[in-house]
Amino acid sequence: MPAASLRGIDLVKTYGDGTARRAALRDVNIDLFPGQLVLLMGPSGSGKSTLLAVLSGLLEPDSGRVLADDDGQLRDVWQLSPKEREEYRRRNTGFIFQGYNLFPALTARQQLEIVLKWGSGVGSGTARRRADEMLDRLGLEPNKHKKPAQLSGGEKQRVAIGRALAKDPGFLFADEPTSALDWENGRKVIELLRDAAHERGASILVVSHDHRILPFVDVHYHLEDGRLERRPLPA
Ligand SMILES: Nc1ncnc2c1ncn2[C@@H]1O[C@H](COP(=O)(O)OP(=O)(O)O)[C@@H](O)[C@H]1O
Ligand SMILES: [Mg+2]
Repeated sequence: MPAASLRGIDLVKTYGDGTARRAALRDVNIDLFPGQLVLLMGPSGSGKSTLLAVLSGLLEPDSGRVLADDDGQLRDVWQLSPKEREEYRRRNTGFIFQGYNLFPALTARQQLEIVLKWGSGVGSGTARRRADEMLDRLGLEPNKHKKPAQLSGGEKQRVAIGRALAKDPGFLFADEPTSALDWENGRKVIELLRDAAHERGASILVVSHDHRILPFVDVHYHLEDGRLERRPLPA
């Protein structure tokens, strides 16, 4: 068994105060390993998006630690300075947000080119070639010159997925990446995520409500009321 590439230890996160207090994470422990596609399920409001945000360095927990492999060195993500954390995130993490978070003024191809140029530091020619390859794999070739306003919900979702995958991150967090897709496209996306884990050694944590994803994943977790539990996979 290889060492964990990312460890969430005793994570606690509470929103609000007084009577509006809501515990989103109650002492959550989770290890992610290189090469694994991990599925996180659980009812709405159970803390799934909060856990992704804490593990990815976007949202500071009230207590607990996030240890992440950064070029062979284990770092405590929430002990880094904001600038170091930003740099760590740029180098190592991809995030597919529930609301896509695309840049309104850029075409599909430009959305990918920009993360390749600024995120991975590759040259313009390589960025364009890799952007086109990824858009092809996602069936978006005919849409590559369109801006978000001209794309359907499912197409926007696939652009957001391509953008996160294009820079080949060590950690990838995907919040309901297939929710706007029919199963044909949803399956394509899950296969891409699985390939990124199995072939490129990424650690991938994906939130989904779709049970059809289960046969594609390596580990299944269930979060309920801020408590995490590992579930067996179907035989
Ligand atoms: N920014 C916030 N302010 C206050 N409460 C929040 C905030 N974000 C999430 N919550 C609450 O925390 C709980 C967990 O939310 P979330 O992590 O979004 O769950 P999920 O992604 O599983 O639906 C919910 O009760 C939600 O209402
Ligand atoms: Mg959510």
